[in-house]
Amino acid sequence: MNEQHPDHSAEFDAVTVIGLGPMGRAMARTLLAAGRPVTVWNRTPSRAAELVAEGAALAATPAAAVRAGGLVLLSLTDYPAMYDILGPATAALAGRTLVNLSSDTPDRSREAAAWAAGHDAGFLTGGVMVPAPMVGTPAAHVYYSGGRGLMDRHRDALALLGTPRYLGEDPGLAQLMYQAQLAVFLTTLSGLMHATAMLGTAGLKAAEALPELLASADSIGAVLRAGEQHPGTALDAGEHPGHLSTVTMMGATADHIVETSTALGLDLALPRAVQSHYRHAIANGHGTDNWTRIIDTIRGGR
Ligand SMILES: NC(=O)c1ccc[n+]([C@@H]2O[C@H](COP(=O)([O-])OP(=O)(O)OC[C@H]3O[C@@H](n4cnc5c(N)ncnc54)[C@H](OP(=O)(O)O)[C@@H]3O)[C@@H](O)[C@H]2O)c1
Repeated sequence: MNEQHPDHSAEFDAVTVIGLGPMGRAMARTLLAAGRPVTVWNRTPSRAAELVAEGAALAATPAAAVRAGGLVLLSLTDYPAMYDILGPATAALAGRTLVNLSSDTPDRSREAAAWAAGHDAGFLTGGVMVPAPMVGTPAAHVYYSGGRGLMDRHRDALALLGTPRYLGEDPGLAQLMYQAQLAVFLTTLSGLMHATAMLGTAGLKAAEALPELLASADSIGAVLRAGEQHPGTALDAGEHPGHLSTVTMMGATADHIVETSTALGLDLALPRAVQSHYRHAIANGHGTDNWTRIIDTIRGGR
């Protein structure tokens, strides 16, 4: 739906939630607790049982679910799942606003917005930044992008899930932010599991190892902010001052992690990826720069 198309959503407090994994169920539960009429649909209907007991209506078909709410939230594994579900229900989409809070690529979010517009429906992309149990709590925030008018119209309902952070009109933007945030999250999780496996070879239980390791993970933000200059400011200026730490020093440690992991018989994919960033920066003559110089390789400049 383009901004000119009449939108009937404002007449509804009713919200439809399609996709009842842990995240969709948390959203539906939060909306019910706030007194919104909630209709749900899920490929596996049994996942709706508890929500129905709490007051949600279970729609018989995706089309009936869409017709029940002006605002239709999608919480699915990926975007192809949306087409699987709504492809046969496109006649019901006109005048509705779809908010797809599923993970996928920015380009697939843009394609989905165009697809929705082709069926006279509005489309916002969303990226939920907390795990399911934290949905609806003050700690929750959710990135959105897409039509500003749609965002304004549905802000109150969406704010029930978590503080909305609107990034702009491009439907790909919220997805890009989500994937960037998840790049940090997933890489950190793999780092934590690699480190736990390292310590496990010495007989340390994960219950002992993880508190030590999480203290390091928790401190990364403070460490990066503690320098004379925020690393982002220097990066934006194209500066990589190496007077406190250098690519050569960090690269030597990256080598030691690979050597240690090899000796311990662990998977080397993660430490080798990190090592390659430093090796490229050194090979390009940047050994005396700050570690931030590895961004050149990551940007594809080698
Ligand atoms: N869980 C979290 O803590 C969390 C946090 C932030 C963001 N997210 C994002 O939220 C989204 C949902 O997460 P989740 O944990 O609830 O995922 P999930 O447990 O994997 O649930 C996925 C949902 O998608 C449905 N689905 C998948 N493929 C389908 C298809 N081809 N046709 C119809 N339905 C299909 C599933 O239906 P069935 O029940 O029938 O299988 C289920 O309802 C994901 O994109 C995830 O990245 C999750």
